[in-house]
Amino acid sequence: MSASERTGGDAGADGAGRAFLLTNIGELTTNVSAAGDPCGTLRDAAVLVRAGRVEWTGLTTEVPDAAGLTADARIEVIDAGGRAVIPGFVDSHTHLVFGGDRAEEFAARMEGKRYAAGGIRTTVAATRSAPDDELRKRLRSLVAECRAQGTTTLEIKTGYGLDVETELRLARLAAEVTDEVTFLGAHVVAPEFAGRADEYIDLVVGEMLDAVSPLVRWVDVFCETGAFTAAQSRRVLEAGRAKGLGIRVHGNQLGAGDGVALAVSLDAASVDHCTFVSDADVAALAASDTVATLLPGVEFSTRQPYPDARRLLDAGVTVALASDCNPGSSFTSSMPLMIALAVREMGMTPAEAVWAATAGGARALRRTDVGVIHPGARADLVLLEAPTRVHLAYRPGVPLVRTVWKDGAEV
Ligand code: NIG
Ligand code: FE
Repeated sequence: MSASERTGGDAGADGAGRAFLLTNIGELTTNVSAAGDPCGTLRDAAVLVRAGRVEWTGLTTEVPDAAGLTADARIEVIDAGGRAVIPGFVDSHTHLVFGGDRAEEFAARMEGKRYAAGGIRTTVAATRSAPDDELRKRLRSLVAECRAQGTTTLEIKTGYGLDVETELRLARLAAEVTDEVTFLGAHVVAPEFAGRADEYIDLVVGEMLDAVSPLVRWVDVFCETGAFTAAQSRRVLEAGRAKGLGIRVHGNQLGAGDGVALAVSLDAASVDHCTFVSDADVAALAASDTVATLLPGVEFSTRQPYPDARRLLDAGVTVALASDCNPGSSFTSSMPLMIALAVREMGMTPAEAVWAATAGGARALRRTDVGVIHPGARADLVLLEAPTRVHLAYRPGVPLVRTVWKDGAEV
């Protein structure tokens, strides 16, 4: 296992012994909600980090024992130069373990061909035939890409194996780089089970789940026309729950459907996509603890209409933003791009989008130790090359991530 989320923060990680005071922060997004400001914004602020955790946050003028801290050679003082600091991004939905790519499918789509769930099988073939080392190399390079863009917590799904052996390989590889591994054996019907979806589900909830469940935290299913029905999806999710796994759902991506209702009925942590939702879906989400995770990289890359984040937020739904990084529908790992798209295309304010990409992602993973900057939280911080978080949407496509700390260690 590498320096990973599995070891990071609690012990052993580089950051564990390091202490620093990040001071002269022009705008600090804490996500500790204060009157009318869910982002809990502090201006001219400082953050004290010790042993991989946030120890203190507040105004630069109020640093406890400022003189003592700055005189202590063991505590490095880092001047943020008036720039903005935000929590590290929490990307709660990715598919980073796969072989091959689908650039040709993308190019065909840009000439007018429609996106369909069946393209997943192209990646299944490439993934099954790729040796572990090749998959690991690609995975690690994608994780490095995510980190460089400010993502400090990553969820990773299986789902390009669709047989017991390959799903297990993918779960093992994902578990090398994150604790947030999701079993997505029910991504589409495996090619050798074509026309026999229920028999494939028997395999998924039986031998496949038995093999994979010790390695994963979550179970997920693609509940959509061309993938699985609500009844098949429910079987998978209930079997995962019986193994102690948390529930996530892909739903309402390509058209109206049962994904949202199913997710809410099972108290899923998150239902992801939510592009085509009814008034009843919105009301059900608003009354639930299920987060609506929106994935605008998909609509960008498939030329579909964007989900209406404004409608969800106005109804009181908790919204997260994630990249859905995968070779088919969204081959980008950029959370800043998700923020820019959410603001420009989905009716979110910059503050709402930054919250959704940090604290929202943490809610979608039912985590309280990330997505916030407050005493006791993991010291996952991003220093922006910008005076405010608004610049993430205002300056799309510009590399504004200057420094990233994960568990107090510079990435
Ligand atoms: O989240 N919706 C299902 N799964 C992926 C697509 C994967 C693919 O096209 O390879 C998604 O968009
Ligand atoms: Fe996905």
